[in-house]
Amino acid sequence: MTAPLLEIDDLHVKFDTRIGTVQALRGVSLSVSAGETLAVVGESGSGKSVTAQAVMGLIDVPGRISDGEIRWKGRLLVGQSIARDARHVWGKEITMVFQNPMTSLNPLMTVGAQICEVIELHLGLDRAAARERAGDILAAVGISGIERRLDQYPHEFSGGMRQRVMIAMGIACEPKLLIADEPTTALDVTIQAQILELLAELQEQMGLAIVLITHDLGVVAGMCHRVAVMYAGQIVETGPVDAIFEKPAHPYTQGLIRSTPGLDDECDRLTAIDGTPPGLLDPPSGCAFLPRCPIGDEGCRAPQILRPFDAGSVACRKAGQHAWGDIA
Ligand SMILES: Nc1ncnc2c1ncn2[C@@H]1O[C@H](COP(=O)(O)OP(=O)(O)O)[C@@H](O)[C@H]1O
Ligand SMILES: [Mg+2]
Repeated sequence: MTAPLLEIDDLHVKFDTRIGTVQALRGVSLSVSAGETLAVVGESGSGKSVTAQAVMGLIDVPGRISDGEIRWKGRLLVGQSIARDARHVWGKEITMVFQNPMTSLNPLMTVGAQICEVIELHLGLDRAAARERAGDILAAVGISGIERRLDQYPHEFSGGMRQRVMIAMGIACEPKLLIADEPTTALDVTIQAQILELLAELQEQMGLAIVLITHDLGVVAGMCHRVAVMYAGQIVETGPVDAIFEKPAHPYTQGLIRSTPGLDDECDRLTAIDGTPPGLLDPPSGCAFLPRCPIGDEGCRAPQILRPFDAGSVACRKAGQHAWGDIA
């Protein structure tokens, strides 16, 4: 095993709002090794995007990192302060693709100019060399008619093509890690599949590590090596994808799998998990899933720490029990 590229260690992020302090991340620890694809899954509001934003140094007022640190290749990147050389890491070694390409592309600049800007900044190429590289990268993400495409504006691209452009910008400087935050959520199903396939191809060709953030467990199965399941600002289960799909240990993971079409063939009806996650203004110190958990009891009011279990780790004192009865 090589040392991980990215290590997130006990990260706490808070947002100070008018109605109180939102505890968005409550002790998140994660690592990503070279060339691996890690899925981060969980319901909306569980802290997936905030985790990615913290890695990219994008937590800003009213948000703050109140504890923990993020290391890149063993060196501090983000903690109470930001490493002096962090700007050489972001955009060059770690890049991010956002959910909505329309808000992250500049509508007033041609696609070619935007890709060239990134390449000139990080690789120090001149305009002509940067344009040539931009063309190569667009071709690599499956865009044809390159010369014409380079001179077009974002609105001249379809949603799927815009997301390809975002991915092209993300890989233009050959990063070691690409973080994709719900990269296909705004796209229709066929295009979604194509974009995920593209990411998987790039991962293989470039030896790229990918963090794929999604609320849809269905997209995880085909292309990810490991998965981290988030709930209410914490990781409740993590491990190899195959092992977790085969034998989810946390009742929440079990519930997610049984509510995802096509994943759970032993359960003939898809059932959403009743209830909602707790508010993060005043989250419980014990298991945050307790109010929705079919097998939780008084003992679960104590803090549940992630501990090794089977091939992964789980934060549940009843790990491995069948919470929903109909899971084999
Ligand atoms: N700028 C902000 N101000 C206040 N709360 C925020 C802010 N950004 C995120 N949060 C809160 O942090 C929590 C995690 O959000 P997020 O990481 O975006 O969830 P998701 O898993 O859907 O990506 C949510 O409770 C959200 O309301
Ligand atoms: Mg999000």
